[in-house]
Amino acid sequence: MAVSTLPTLPGRTTEAVRALLRPDSLLSELSYAFGGPYHVLFPELFDSNATAFRKAFAEAGVDGHVYYAKKANKAALFAERAAVLGLGVDVASHGELREALAAGVRGADLVVTGPAKADELLRVAVLHGALIAVDALDELDRLLGLAAELGRTARVLLRRLPPAQPDSRFGLDAGELETALRRCSAAGVDLEGFSFHLSGYEVGPRADLAAELVRLCLRARQLGLRADRISIGGGFAVDYVDAGDWDSFHEALRPEHFHAGKTFSGFYPYHSPVAGADALRAVLAAVPAGEQAPLATLLRTAGVTLLVEPGRALLDQAGCTVFGVQGVKERDGYGILTVDGTSLSLSEQWFASEFLPDPVLVPAAPGPGAPEGPYPCCVGAASCLESDLLTWRKIPFPRRPAVGDLLVYLNTAGYQMDSNESPFHELPLPPKAVIEPAAGPGRPRWRLDRHP
Ligand SMILES: Cc1ncc(COP(=O)(O)O)c(C=O)c1O
Repeated sequence: MAVSTLPTLPGRTTEAVRALLRPDSLLSELSYAFGGPYHVLFPELFDSNATAFRKAFAEAGVDGHVYYAKKANKAALFAERAAVLGLGVDVASHGELREALAAGVRGADLVVTGPAKADELLRVAVLHGALIAVDALDELDRLLGLAAELGRTARVLLRRLPPAQPDSRFGLDAGELETALRRCSAAGVDLEGFSFHLSGYEVGPRADLAAELVRLCLRARQLGLRADRISIGGGFAVDYVDAGDWDSFHEALRPEHFHAGKTFSGFYPYHSPVAGADALRAVLAAVPAGEQAPLATLLRTAGVTLLVEPGRALLDQAGCTVFGVQGVKERDGYGILTVDGTSLSLSEQWFASEFLPDPVLVPAAPGPGAPEGPYPCCVGAASCLESDLLTWRKIPFPRRPAVGDLLVYLNTAGYQMDSNESPFHELPLPPKAVIEPAAGPGRPRWRLDRHP
């Protein structure tokens, strides 16, 4: 295997990230302080992503609300930013609801999603006036019973099973929706509208199903129900790498480029020509199947507000994950690095896939003279599991990594950094450092995230 043929996949970065990757930056100080892997978070990026989503609504002349899908990252920071910015938050558990309230998000700004929600969660949601996306008929009955006991009105969305994804375990099919509508009408429920969340990142199916939900709103109004909003969930893609890099990477990739010839059945689409707020723009501009006008016009004409629940896209470039190199082993022309954490801090491995953007090597000390040229390494974890590799791919690093160097995985805030973390082997959970610009010239400041 010629080292020069090993493909690279440079991750996109921001100025804030590039500044941190310089050898004398805050990173090595944080590594010394934490003595293990950690995550860094950039609040400003979350803010600018949220602004971009709001701008897309404003440009299309559509009344819209952004709910941050909290499941994408456990940090308190992003829920706090959502509260300050006046965004809603999508919570899928009692713990997420509690954390969102504690961060300052008002109950009325929450949407509660997820299947078969426990009574405890439904009760708190009703008491706080949160919007509740009902997933099944029995859940609707439990919710109506609880609301009656509490003498409160439940704010309800009915979740649609996507007809194009009939194997989805979420939502109500057409017959169940009709039954739910009649039950809501009979019980005098405040039915605010309908919702869905689609797997994948395509624009067309989202616009098509959104139009169906607009039609459902009109049908519900015939039954005397309010039905003036729909939620199209999340699934706004993130563009991790440039188009040219993604194409040439795919063309060059071979099984021998991975440690032990490891193969994967698929990867996240790390390049997406339409991503983030532009994906919302595209959904609003699309003419849904069977309609004559773009979705934006259909929403305006019907007086329907559009809710979106982006998780990953609001976190684009809002965090990185930093490991320390603990060992470098030579093997058949490449190195096996061992870092001071596990692949649980990079959740793609646990979906039988790999987080592909190249990790960046930040040397602890400047090397003697010029870099020695590409030095390929895979990246193993500090665990006893043969399968626990953060990166099976042999990354052609610009120099031979050394113990004490840092390895930075870029753009990990959306699901990668903490969705699967556990204190396996009694390893501590990586802390999260919030990076904020300095008041004047000089290094940025940092503080620990408030999540316990
Ligand atoms: C109901 C719902 N809304 C929003 C999201 C967030 O999706 P994403 O992070 O892809 O935007 C999810 C993800 O699973 C979801 O299930």
